[in-house]
Amino acid sequence: MANYIKALLVDDLPPGSMKTVRVGGKSIAMANVDGEVFAIDDTCSHAECSLGSEGFIDGNVVTCGCHGATFDVTNGKVMSMPAVTDVASYSVKIVGQDVLIAL
Ligand code: FES
Repeated sequence: MANYIKALLVDDLPPGSMKTVRVGGKSIAMANVDGEVFAIDDTCSHAECSLGSEGFIDGNVVTCGCHGATFDVTNGKVMSMPAVTDVASYSVKIVGQDVLIAL
């Protein structure tokens, strides 16, 4: 069974924003896409830049700030080069004001 851990508060992640959080010893990029929160591994699969801190979000597309690879934040799938490997995605649920992710 998934172990849900509190990552941040709903108000910490307004729609259209993205940030990196440390949860359970992992760096996770969390994004709010039109009111729905998603979580993927923060480390770009190309050359390990931080997606949440150095990247940009537009809709569901995260662009890595280092070399421009894009990922779908809703599922971690790589969308464009130079990255060729997906990043992990994590289940998210909201309980009250808390955003929890399953690690
Ligand atoms: S480190 Fe992300 S595209 Fe190169």
